[in-house]
Amino acid sequence: MSIRYPHLFTPLKVGNVTLKNRIMAAPMSIPELTEDYFPTPATVGFYETRAKGGAASVTVGDCVVHRETGMAHAGLQIAFDDPRIARDMARIAQAIKWHDCIPGIELAHGGMFGGVPCLANPAAKGKQSYGPVDFVMENGIVVKAMDEDMMHKIAQAFADAAKRAKMCGFEMIIFHGGHGWMFNQFLSPYTNRRTDKYSGSTENRCRFPILILKAVREAVGPGFPLDFRMSGSELFEGGYGIDEGCRIAEILQDYLDIIHVSVGNHERLETFPRTHPTLFLPHGVNVEFAAEIKKHVKIPVATLGGISDPDMAEEIIASGKADIVCMARALIADPEWPNKARAGQPDEIRRCMRCLSCLSIVPTTHLHRCALNPESAKESSFRVSPFPFKKKKVLVAGGGPGGMQAALTAGRRGHTVILCEASGSLGGQILCERFVPFKDDYFAFSQWLIRQLAKLPNVEVRLNTKVDPELVNILAPDVLLCAIGAEPIVPPIPGIDGENVRFIHDLKKAADPGVGKNVAIIGGGLVGCETAVHFHRLGKNVTIVEMLEDVAIDAPFFHRAGLMPELEKGVRRLTNTKAKEIRPDGLLCAGPDGKELFLPADTVFCAAGMRSRTEELSALRAAVPDCRALGDCTKPGRVLDAVHSAYMIALDL
Ligand SMILES: Cc1cc2nc3c(=O)[nH]c(=O)nc-3n(C[C@H](O)[C@H](O)[C@H](O)COP(=O)(O)O)c2cc1C
Repeated sequence: MSIRYPHLFTPLKVGNVTLKNRIMAAPMSIPELTEDYFPTPATVGFYETRAKGGAASVTVGDCVVHRETGMAHAGLQIAFDDPRIARDMARIAQAIKWHDCIPGIELAHGGMFGGVPCLANPAAKGKQSYGPVDFVMENGIVVKAMDEDMMHKIAQAFADAAKRAKMCGFEMIIFHGGHGWMFNQFLSPYTNRRTDKYSGSTENRCRFPILILKAVREAVGPGFPLDFRMSGSELFEGGYGIDEGCRIAEILQDYLDIIHVSVGNHERLETFPRTHPTLFLPHGVNVEFAAEIKKHVKIPVATLGGISDPDMAEEIIASGKADIVCMARALIADPEWPNKARAGQPDEIRRCMRCLSCLSIVPTTHLHRCALNPESAKESSFRVSPFPFKKKKVLVAGGGPGGMQAALTAGRRGHTVILCEASGSLGGQILCERFVPFKDDYFAFSQWLIRQLAKLPNVEVRLNTKVDPELVNILAPDVLLCAIGAEPIVPPIPGIDGENVRFIHDLKKAADPGVGKNVAIIGGGLVGCETAVHFHRLGKNVTIVEMLEDVAIDAPFFHRAGLMPELEKGVRRLTNTKAKEIRPDGLLCAGPDGKELFLPADTVFCAAGMRSRTEELSALRAAVPDCRALGDCTKPGRVLDAVHSAYMIALDL
């Protein structure tokens, strides 16, 4: 049988295991842990689901080998040095293995960021942190230089952890050697300013990592695959670049079976958008680093970073840029990605939008959520999804992402569904992203939903059909799912109805809906800022006018880290500034000091927020005994909020 992605699905022998294809799930950790940092059933379900989806290996991320000195995150890292953890970890390894997938484990140590109350790590209170050199961090934390005794102690901790990993059933070890954590701190000339044999030349800086790799090799024996995740380049002034990255890989390869090339350094926020490529960057933006390193080593090289298209993954392997493609977010959004690619069905894949919701709410709420995949990290709860007690006639009002997801989930559960959309096309708010190139994955998600709906014979879609009480009466559904969305707020500013004013929905028509060279944007929230980036990329002079002290404060934390540098490229921002009047030739504002300021502009774009369609919702609630509302019509939010509430409500039926 011919397959569509032959290179991607060619097995690869690594040490004493064979990867059944070239797709590895990148190390991922999720905050579904106990207070002692032990896995929970949700943790098991998360990894097992990715294994079932067809990846060659699945790696449990961030397992700390020495909590006393190495724990750096709160609630994300597994306490792998606690011997009592063996049973839970064995459960995960088995769950992965039972799906014909290699269970991998990432062994980690935070180095100078470990053992300190950094990244809100309450477990570290009062503990000492150790790094390459003595120094005081910006937040006042005193870092002690590791002496050789401590280095040997940590190497032993890695060896003990490796033995435990093998005993638990893991078949591959990945060292977290990049992104600014301990290995990286020793490899980097920026942080490793020791004066002994562990510093200076690249060889010397590799000495401590090699000490650990040797100890681990002795612990696990020959043939057991060892994979080293490194930053190919640290991507900041003073850190190492790709040339030295190649040299590091060259030196370390003798102790390894795979070199796994990421980039950047967590502790330098400006590199975060490259480590987890944001939607402002091209897909596969870091492949070039792996390709360069591959020229210098004899062992297989893995690449990753914003890869979600099977054609791209196939090309990377076929062209020899890398031997393995790793994916994190793509497999969060759709764990079945590998199975769908293997079946030659790329259009079936629900592609990650790189909105970074999966990471952004972790620091605040300790939750992992994927905007597109409501089951992510909750797989164990959905394992048994009982069929409905009674099949119902379900009317869904509104064909945005929430309405479509509700119709899809209800339809898949066997209900008879009618989905009505007032306009001529499905997609709702997402249609505003249609012509914004860096948001094409958002639009792709709406198209994915449309394709899935089309496959269900029990779901009927009616376009140009507004659901009102009269229609509800005629159709007489058992339940009405109301997903009628929100509409732009039109602030009472003189001139707002002028011909030079545009709103977000105008972007449904074209990339440039008649916007002149000079644009003033009222509202510096996420929508206003992303629109500013879009217009700036179209070559316009853009000024954002925002009443608050800063812009994009509603943006997910890590998405904002990618958005702000885009604004820095040339979008003017006037904060603490209020729009007072729109004139044919510009926008009159009141500045922070209350003084008037006139901004000459050809077009004023209004991004003053959205308001829920509450009156319509109330009328619909009154029209049927069982009406359930979801998404923006309850509170304007993000795709994540709409999709998750839709999924849950449809499961309730
Ligand atoms: C939810 C989430 C958890 C992650 N956890 C880890 C981790 O535990 N260890 C690690 O080395 N990288 C971790 N990463 C980084 C990924 O392994 C990967 O390097 C990054 O997401 C870029 O790949 P992608 O574009 O395919 O998502 C995580 C990423 C995400 C999105």
